[in-house]
Amino acid sequence: MKILVTGAAGFIGSHSAKALLARGDTVYGIDNFNDYYEVEQKEKNAENLNVFRVDICDEAAIDKIFAELQPDVLLHLAARAGVRASIADPVLYHNVNVLGTNILLDACRKHGVGRIVSASSSSVYGNQKKTPFSETDETENPISPYAATKRAGESLAYAYSKMYGLQITCLRFFTVYGPSGRPDMAPLMFTKAIDAGETIKRFGDGTSMRDYTFIDDIVSGIVSAIDHPFNFEIINLGNNKPEELRVLISTIEKNLGKSAKIEELPMQPGDVEMTYADITKAQKLLGYNPQTTLEQGIEKLVNWYKK
Ligand SMILES: NC(=O)c1ccc[n+]([C@@H]2O[C@H](COP(=O)([O-])OP(=O)(O)OC[C@H]3O[C@@H](n4cnc5c(N)ncnc54)[C@H](O)[C@@H]3O)[C@@H](O)[C@H]2O)c1
Repeated sequence: MKILVTGAAGFIGSHSAKALLARGDTVYGIDNFNDYYEVEQKEKNAENLNVFRVDICDEAAIDKIFAELQPDVLLHLAARAGVRASIADPVLYHNVNVLGTNILLDACRKHGVGRIVSASSSSVYGNQKKTPFSETDETENPISPYAATKRAGESLAYAYSKMYGLQITCLRFFTVYGPSGRPDMAPLMFTKAIDAGETIKRFGDGTSMRDYTFIDDIVSGIVSAIDHPFNFEIINLGNNKPEELRVLISTIEKNLGKSAKIEELPMQPGDVEMTYADITKAQKLLGYNPQTTLEQGIEKLVNWYKK
């Protein structure tokens, strides 16, 4: 299949593009290599990938790429990610995550790209107390601009699937980590800081929980979603085993053989207490079955980091 991957120089995008190439798909990428985090890391992620340096909000450029490539599948992963940064720049988040998504959906309609897999986020569940989070739970209470834009992206996808018969699956990812991970997220940020002997900022008392999901497990879910098109589905991809922040920190300490210096700060606006994925639907529809424990995943992350 010919697959166009947006956000191909990013963390999940580059891992997905490489997995698709490895199994014989023809893969093209789109990424604007913005400086939300180190551009060098994105350049490295994109080595050996065929990536167009284009902004997904540039409608004319997107139209041209779709006309030239005529892909079979769009894997849409480009976004401004990160809850806290969305509070600082909500309009940018809206432009990329909502307008950019709309431009891509419209390009799919116009150029007959009938299969789409699109990234959403566990953040759409807000601070809900009911666990685990399942796809039928309410998502009317986002607590950050980022969460609101990801929910809006799902709504647009639903409308396009209904209006034009596009087959779209929105995947709600839960705290993805692993080699070449995002440097703004706790697993890699803490690994770097603890290794360098720097103080880490821990928001809250360390008991907040995340359903940390290893990148290889997420990629297996993405690939399966590409291979199993549905008219419209929203599917959680998590690990189904939330862990406390203090457990994440102690696991990193153990693997580095170093102790963390911790500054405790209040929980931040936009941060939720817990994420916890119900993955029954992913198991049933995609045969999804995450394999990697936090201990195994952090060991792989730290080994990659040391190299
Ligand atoms: N990593 C996670 O834990 C997580 C959790 C939930 C959802 N997600 C979603 O998964 C997707 C991938 O996230 P990631 O962690 O790989 O993030 P990432 O920041 O590493 O990757 C996103 C990529 O999109 C590119 N991009 C951003 N704006 C663009 C634009 N206007 N035009 C073209 N390219 C643009 C960036 O340069 C980057 O390379 C995103 O949609 C994100 O919202 C990620």
